[in-house]
Amino acid sequence: MSRTPAERSVTSDVLVVGGGIIGLVTAWRAAQRGFTTTVVDPEPGGGAAQVAAGMLAAVTELHYGEQTLLGLNLASARRYPDFVAELTEATGQDLGYRRCGTLAVALDSDDRAHLRELHALQIRSGLESEWLSGRECRRLEPMLAPGVRGGLRVDGDHQIDPRRLAKGLVTACERAGVVFHRTWAERLTVVRERATGVVTAGGDGLAAAQVVLAAGSLSGRLEGVPDFVRPPVRPVKGQVLRLTVPKRYAPFLSRTVRAVVRGSHVYLVPRESGELVVGATSEELGWDTTVTAGGVYELLRDAHELVPGITELPLTETRAGLRPGSPDNAPLLGPTGLDGLLLATGHHRNGVLLTPVTGDVMAHVLASGELPEEARPFTPHRFSPTRTEQPV
Ligand code: GLY
Repeated sequence: MSRTPAERSVTSDVLVVGGGIIGLVTAWRAAQRGFTTTVVDPEPGGGAAQVAAGMLAAVTELHYGEQTLLGLNLASARRYPDFVAELTEATGQDLGYRRCGTLAVALDSDDRAHLRELHALQIRSGLESEWLSGRECRRLEPMLAPGVRGGLRVDGDHQIDPRRLAKGLVTACERAGVVFHRTWAERLTVVRERATGVVTAGGDGLAAAQVVLAAGSLSGRLEGVPDFVRPPVRPVKGQVLRLTVPKRYAPFLSRTVRAVVRGSHVYLVPRESGELVVGATSEELGWDTTVTAGGVYELLRDAHELVPGITELPLTETRAGLRPGSPDNAPLLGPTGLDGLLLATGHHRNGVLLTPVTGDVMAHVLASGELPEEARPFTPHRFSPTRTEQPV
């Protein structure tokens, strides 16, 4: 006699839907708190982290109107050294964390005016950022184009290799006893106005006391989630290139170099391994992950204006990923209006940067039911009809 999903159910304290870096860090921290924890994902460690460049750019990616998000970004940046040390200790893996700093440069007078504005905002926000002339920029990074008109030196914006981070988190979760179900979560189960688990693509019922929806750009698509708590998350496509710096050219760049060219962000992130990541487009095209000739052309054109020598380098990989965009570009963290359902999604451009603080915040919420002070502005309630807290 066949059994119903409920009869086949496995129960855990915490069930995380989505095994990207946000779901994994939530699961790892939950398991460390003693919760029996399950992750449902066909490919744990996959997702946007496989594409992301891994800039930890709280200061150089500051935008007007996002000062509240800046607070969370800085809180996470401050946690990074200890977080990396702990994860390295737990796994024995090198995460490619590099405190190399970032240089944001201007290529023409409009760019320079824009960068001056950003510098003023950074200083008003109490951030460390130093204005350099074009000559000073080129002294730091001799591969920069001769026409660079000035720039901001931000030594506090670092980088990590997101692929290594994702792999490390899978290992840490396994060692902490997290159970992985390598399949899709198809539907949230709700019983008497409470989330009680999920049904997988294979028809298995996985029950849990608390369900965390951390499925990145797919977070709004899980069946069974009532409309009033469905996260308003959309995919924002980013095309990213990977080049290789042959040893004879090293050091090609010693830090992350970025600019806004014709209104688009372009950045070059040099890894110690010789990989040079060039990103990224920002496109609203639904769940499309096609790498296009136009996307690759624009990235190479803009990167070439910044660092002409890149055309000598082998192009080793082209890929597109989907950022989980939210209406205010900030994450949704914590309990929803449906008992038993929590969110950890909507990290948009800052998923890698926000990984440490998200893990801590989610562990705190899972244990106490309350968001810690620093995360209160990021409650999902800000988008629900019964909103009780102010938007970011
Ligand atoms: N934070 C870089 C990006 O989203 O492209």
